[in-house]
Amino acid sequence: MRLVLVGPPGAGKGTQAEFVAAHLAVPKISTGDIFRANVTLGTPLGVEAKRYMVAGLLVPDEVTINMVAERLAENDATDGFLLDGFPRTTPQAVALDKLLADLGTALDVILELVVDEDEVIRRLSGRRTCRGCGKIWHVEFDPTTREGVCDRCGGELFQRDDDKAETIAERMRVYARDTAPLIDYYGTQGKLVGIDATGPVEDITVRAIDALRSYGG
Ligand code: AP5
Ligand code: MG
Repeated sequence: MRLVLVGPPGAGKGTQAEFVAAHLAVPKISTGDIFRANVTLGTPLGVEAKRYMVAGLLVPDEVTINMVAERLAENDATDGFLLDGFPRTTPQAVALDKLLADLGTALDVILELVVDEDEVIRRLSGRRTCRGCGKIWHVEFDPTTREGVCDRCGGELFQRDDDKAETIAERMRVYARDTAPLIDYYGTQGKLVGIDATGPVEDITVRAIDALRSYGG
């Protein structure tokens, strides 16, 4: 299955991507994670991406599209994938459709995680991520047993640079302006399915898997 997860910052894309990709047995491809890994390694891509990420702005389309095209060309993505955080602009969506059409294929479904703004602000302000395995936690909604230490791998937890109040506000503005139009874009293709992304994480995963079933998932 070729699937895209869309939703505002903090909607739970990364959290659900892990479970849904495992269920579908497809690789999870998160552009935010790839950029953050490059920032950590100090690659030229990371140096460029960081300038935008710390300000809550989008990395330019050309850079992002080339990066995703390279990733989708890897062997594990031939039969399916789950994209988290891409596409995020209309030019990115058009480029992805073209890339897949050139390969003789297409997206199957776009899953929208629907959450209101107050809830995403609560989620982002308390988010912690593991440096070791990348697992996403929350100080209040999904806390670890020992503060600052990952229950899964024992790694150190950190708070993302872009989870500060003023950067969160900018990311929400950018989402409304640049990414929300994709809901219509995919809606007119008849490939959009939205689910209520509030409540326990496990319940949302069940809703997601149910919603994907009628698209072959
Ligand atoms: P990216 O990493 O994609 O950030 P984002 O879209 O802002 O989304 P987040 O990762 O913040 O939220 P999420 O939906 O994954 O939520 P999560 O599961 O973590 O992008 C970062 C930056 O990279 C961008 O700003 C941009 O600069 C650049 N970039 C990336 N892609 C790009 C692109 N295509 N084009 C250009 N630039 C790009 O959950 C959030 C919190 O909520 C966690 O703490 C979690 O534990 C908690 N939580 C999850 N589910 C629940 C629940 N059901 N109940 C309570 N808490 C929950
Ligand atoms: Mg994420």
